[in-house]
Amino acid sequence: MITAEPRRMLVLAGAAAHASRTRSVAELVCRDIAAAGGRPVLRDLAEHPLPLLHADPDGANLADVQIQAAEADAMIWVTPCYHGSYSGILKNCLDHLREDALRGKPVGVVAVGASLTAVSACDHLRAVARTLGCVTAPTQAVVSGGGLLDDGADSGAYPRIVRMIGELHALTGVTGVLRQCATADVGSPA
Ligand SMILES: Cc1cc2nc3c(=O)[nH]c(=O)nc-3n(C[C@H](O)[C@H](O)[C@H](O)COP(=O)(O)O)c2cc1C
Repeated sequence: MITAEPRRMLVLAGAAAHASRTRSVAELVCRDIAAAGGRPVLRDLAEHPLPLLHADPDGANLADVQIQAAEADAMIWVTPCYHGSYSGILKNCLDHLREDALRGKPVGVVAVGASLTAVSACDHLRAVARTLGCVTAPTQAVVSGGGLLDDGADSGAYPRIVRMIGELHALTGVTGVLRQCATADVGSPA
């Protein structure tokens, strides 16, 4: 197991339903962050709904999630897969976050779906992370099928989540310089 000093890792659970597989997977991710010596912070977007972008700049929960994201050493975005991509409420949340607070921040992506086609949600989240200047962990996880991770129903995803968390711990140690030079090409899509 990779040991590290405590890192604050913000886990965004991107399902709108209050009881969801996405939430269960996010809880498991938090458990494994703690097991690897990190400090998990779970943010369930169903429990703390955000206003649509530009609809209410002073809306409930907005400042809160922006502070959590800015203070996090790393983030993990856990999304259900809908029609080959990530959820709308997760995109709305990410649209509310400030690029200058996220630049150089390590991000891990996890998709929950009915099948391995959910991998496309991870791919799309990687594109969003790149636009925000974040550094994504090489390992991602797709939780498919009906079971949860640690009951053996999806034995492939669980070790990938553990590896991804280890990578995020390592990345938080080496991306600090990126966060310090956050102004170079902000806004550039290339
Ligand atoms: C509108 C809709 C579209 C979906 N599209 C996909 C898909 O493209 N690929 C996939 O693997 N699962 C797809 N699913 C299945 C969901 O990803 C799956 O039920 C997942 O468990 C939802 O997460 P949740 O339980 O956290 O809500 C879709 C489900 C819905 C409702």
